Amino acid sequence: MRSYAKSIALYEKTRKHLAGGVSSNVRYASVPVPLFFARGEGARLYDVDGNVHIDYVLGNGPAILGHAPKKVIDAVAASLAEGQLFAAQHPRETELAERLCGLLPGAEVVRFSTSGTEAVLMAMRLARAFTGRDKILKFEGHYHGWSDQAYISARPPLNEAGPANAPVPVAGSPGMPASVLGDVAVCGWNDLELLEQALERHRGEIAAVIMEPVMVNGGVMPPLPGYLEGVKELCRKHGALFILDEVITGFRVGLRGAQAKFGVTADLSIYAKAVAAGFPLAMVAGRRDVMDTLLDKGVMHGGTYNGNVQSMAAALAALDLLEAEDGAVYRDLEARGRELMQGLAALAAKHKLPILVHGMPAIFQTFFTSAPAPRNYRESAACDRDRMLTLHAALQEEGVRVQQAGKWFLSTTHDKPVIEETLVAADRAMAKMASA
Ligand SMILES: Cc1ncc(COP(=O)(O)O)c(C=O)c1O
Repeated sequence: MRSYAKSIALYEKTRKHLAGGVSSNVRYASVPVPLFFARGEGARLYDVDGNVHIDYVLGNGPAILGHAPKKVIDAVAASLAEGQLFAAQHPRETELAERLCGLLPGAEVVRFSTSGTEAVLMAMRLARAFTGRDKILKFEGHYHGWSDQAYISARPPLNEAGPANAPVPVAGSPGMPASVLGDVAVCGWNDLELLEQALERHRGEIAAVIMEPVMVNGGVMPPLPGYLEGVKELCRKHGALFILDEVITGFRVGLRGAQAKFGVTADLSIYAKAVAAGFPLAMVAGRRDVMDTLLDKGVMHGGTYNGNVQSMAAALAALDLLEAEDGAVYRDLEARGRELMQGLAALAAKHKLPILVHGMPAIFQTFFTSAPAPRNYRESAACDRDRMLTLHAALQEEGVRVQQAGKWFLSTTHDKPVIEETLVAADRAMAKMASA
């Protein structure tokens, strides 16, 4: 048995002065307590008790180059003496914006922000200002940050969520005013007929349709063939903007994100996480005419830390690595991910455990289910969450750290030996589960 005595003691001490002992609620989910890590390097984390973890959480996605990537750290270190914030522009912003516009589908212009939550808020405000409409249509199970305007029906209890063909918006947290629910329409995902019906019900009201292009939150479900194209067409028909939230998929499922992978371009896109390989940076990218409302209509977007020197330096250095040989690192990342997915599925069959491994190789999901792969939130909610958590606890005992919701993030440092070591550990963890 691994000992977490020091993490437990630190958690108790921390709780006295840091509310709940954590700085983000999602960190409560760790067992036996929110763990404390001393450092990270490449694919591994080292906790304060001396346990080593092969890390598939990667800060919930950003660490695409692994922990403490040397070239990024060096670039940030070199920038530190220049200062951090000028409440003004600096040349790295020019360089990064130009490179991103040259790279990303549909990115005529970009605007930098600090977190994904803020960038989503900006995109929704732009869409409302551009169309003169108030309502945003979002999908059940999709997460777009924790704001009052967006943390709606992200993981709704099914007894509050209404019928599958016409879900009702459900606030995700106490403290959210009921009034925000009136500005949102909620729809089941991966079903064009449901979207068409929802857009008809709200004819002339919807400013934008927002979604994750792959429904990563909720279970790493890819869009059905033709779905994204169909959504874009329906948006056009109904005069709504199409917003893709690529906070997780961007710079992860490929150099140019999900839009290049699936061949569909949104009006506005949101990126964060992997774009700066672990440093705080988010952005909205998209159509010039929509983004011009920032100036033409005086749409407000602010943020003290936006475009700070270190985040720009980190993103530029990360891009150097990610863009090399037109994204060669992604070909490796996908090969390793596929190997791991296939290896886990084979182990599940060997131990006769009903584990479904599905998603994209650079980000995938393990579900406990014997049913076909889920296609939307309600189908994924039917999977056995308790057994999934038991598997994660068993994996942690064997030195493999997986996100509690069942997502596995890979980095470029998860090389062949790391994957092989993971599969040996998973074999032991599943054997224990099967015999329990
Ligand atoms: C798809 C998606 N959008 C937005 C966000 C919010 O980003 P942040 O946590 O940087 O505010 C997240 C966070 O996990 C996300 O997964």
